[in-house]
Amino acid sequence: MKFYMAPLEEVTGYVYRKAYHDFFCPMDKYFAPFIAAKPNRGRIFNYKEKNDILPEHNEGLYLVPQILTNNSEDFIRTAKGLKEYGYEEINLNLGCPSKPVVNGGRGSGFLERKEDLRRFLDDIFQLDMRISIKTRAGRWETEEIGPLADLFLEYPIEEWILHPRVQADFYRGSPRTDAFSKAYERVYREEEKGECFFCYNGDIFSVEDYERILAEFPRIDGVMLGRGILAYPGLLDNIKGNPGPDLKIWGDFLERLEEDFCRISVSEEKALFKLKELWCYFRYAFPETDIWDQGIKRAKNMDGYRRAVRKMLEEYRQNPKGTFPHGRERPGGRFGGL
Ligand SMILES: Cc1cc2nc3c(=O)[nH]c(=O)nc-3n(C[C@H](O)[C@H](O)[C@H](O)COP(=O)(O)O)c2cc1C
Repeated sequence: MKFYMAPLEEVTGYVYRKAYHDFFCPMDKYFAPFIAAKPNRGRIFNYKEKNDILPEHNEGLYLVPQILTNNSEDFIRTAKGLKEYGYEEINLNLGCPSKPVVNGGRGSGFLERKEDLRRFLDDIFQLDMRISIKTRAGRWETEEIGPLADLFLEYPIEEWILHPRVQADFYRGSPRTDAFSKAYERVYREEEKGECFFCYNGDIFSVEDYERILAEFPRIDGVMLGRGILAYPGLLDNIKGNPGPDLKIWGDFLERLEEDFCRISVSEEKALFKLKELWCYFRYAFPETDIWDQGIKRAKNMDGYRRAVRKMLEEYRQNPKGTFPHGRERPGGRFGGL
């Protein structure tokens, strides 16, 4: 079984990825949050995108950059730009459910435009690079998955990561395992011919969630972990039968994040903001304290933040452990409801 870190825009950037990789159970692959391909002029990457994929910021880990577009020329240009940085494998985002993206016919909004999508795939699979896709089960209805599977499996896809919700679900309810099941049957029927690597993604927040998916879909090749691993970075250790990280490791991990964000941010305020954004997830690993509400969330500056974290690490009496709650998209509004 392969384990992948999901891309979460504004959350799983290179600082977090590298710290996770150095301190916790390493993932087989890390998927970078999407790069929105730009029209055929000017710079291929903006400052933030470039920093995120620079090889020196991702040393020692296997990164798969992701592209969001419905224009094959823009995709190819961006992919070639990534190749110049040494990337041979790239991922196409066919899953993003956000309104502006979908209204522009990109992300999961591209899934309902089958003929355009076919032309797009015809073009991009001419590239001499490995291309994987990350998709939802459809735009409106899970019935869309059958024809989508037929379409995708016509191409030499490196791997197919399926998050079995439709765009209209956003993150509501539970993943539609019936839709995953249809794709699963189709992929492994096809695999008799030895093709696509198939990966499950969605709401794996505990070992029990993982085992349930594995019991239902024993032949899957990989699982991708997102909010679950953010909330509790010991999840992969636990899945592999090992104990999760102790407070000492947490302390070193948090110190690294603090140092790196302070070093790269234009102001202390920005660094604090990034750390709070991550703590919107980390708080679930510390269910026995109200340090998030009482200290970290309220911290007005880095000194306040450091004091709150230090206090928590000194006073917390057990190994951090917890789960992201089912039924929540993310821990609050755009920036965690801060
Ligand atoms: C805040 C946030 C940002 C996300 N950004 C991206 C992204 O850039 N690219 C992408 O393919 N998926 C993105 N996703 C979707 C996740 O990669 C993943 O598919 C989703 O969270 C379901 O997996 P999980 O239940 O393990 O979190 C994002 C999700 C969230 C909550």
